[in-house]
Amino acid sequence: MTPPRTAEPAVQVTDLSVDLGGRLVLRGADLQIRPGEVVAVLGTNGSGKSTLVRTIVGLLPAARGEVKVFGTPIRRFRQWNRIGYVPQRITAAGGVPATVAEVVASGLLSKRRLFRPLSSADRTAITEALEIVDMTAQRKDGVAELSGGQQQRVLIARALVSDPELLILDEPTAGVDLASQAVFADAIRQRVARGTTVVMVSHDLGPMDALIDRSIILRRGRIVYDGPPHASQTHAHVHPHGSVHDEPGWLS
Ligand SMILES: Nc1ncnc2c1ncn2[C@@H]1O[C@H](COP(=O)(O)OP(=O)(O)OP(=O)(O)O)[C@@H](O)[C@H]1O
Ligand SMILES: [Mg+2]
Repeated sequence: MTPPRTAEPAVQVTDLSVDLGGRLVLRGADLQIRPGEVVAVLGTNGSGKSTLVRTIVGLLPAARGEVKVFGTPIRRFRQWNRIGYVPQRITAAGGVPATVAEVVASGLLSKRRLFRPLSSADRTAITEALEIVDMTAQRKDGVAELSGGQQQRVLIARALVSDPELLILDEPTAGVDLASQAVFADAIRQRVARGTTVVMVSHDLGPMDALIDRSIILRRGRIVYDGPPHASQTHAHVHPHGSVHDEPGWLS
């Protein structure tokens, strides 16, 4: 076997349940993602997609079961520069007058080196990430003053800037115009070609669609489908209108 096949899974989720506000919003999830895979996480609003990815990156505790990233239980994981995460909604802006460049630079900070000055390599990485999302001209602007789609592009740049091995993206291109989505898909395609693992929540894959190796569908906190992307879409096509992304009858 080739080394990538024998390598530790990038993500290993075992019998994972997550309790939010006294309710199990994720129930008994099992999921293994190999290095280099590109996985779409689908499901209707409230089905548990964000809960799953937030738990994978260690933002939510497991009520039962376990998450391992690169073979290490997430509660002990410290190599944050190996993971890039785009949250569903901007939280970095909340009252803090951070500039575009500062938010992108925060993607280079591993937790223990918060006050390390930026190296010239860091500055180059920031410039390149800003170019990918076409936000170079706004680098000194406050993120709070940007449009929603522009803020989302800044979060994408922040996730890309450290060139992480694992990208976890929660609806990264929601509110981002089609031209920027295509540029983003291209940046992801280049990283996937170099072996980056991608887990992406989305209602509308758009230009990313062709990159997906595998789909997971969540329904009421359970994984109800895990397989080739075309099969999940074939199910959706049984319905005369809409797609898997907007058919609550199939998904809810
Ligand atoms: N902090 C919280 N406390 C209690 N319940 C929560 C909390 N956050 C989310 N939930 C509930 O957990 C369930 C799953 O939410 P989650 O955000 O994971 O869904 P989602 O699939 O990402 O939906 P969307 O497509 O709208 O982003 C929902 O029913 C939601 O109401
Ligand atoms: Mg969500």
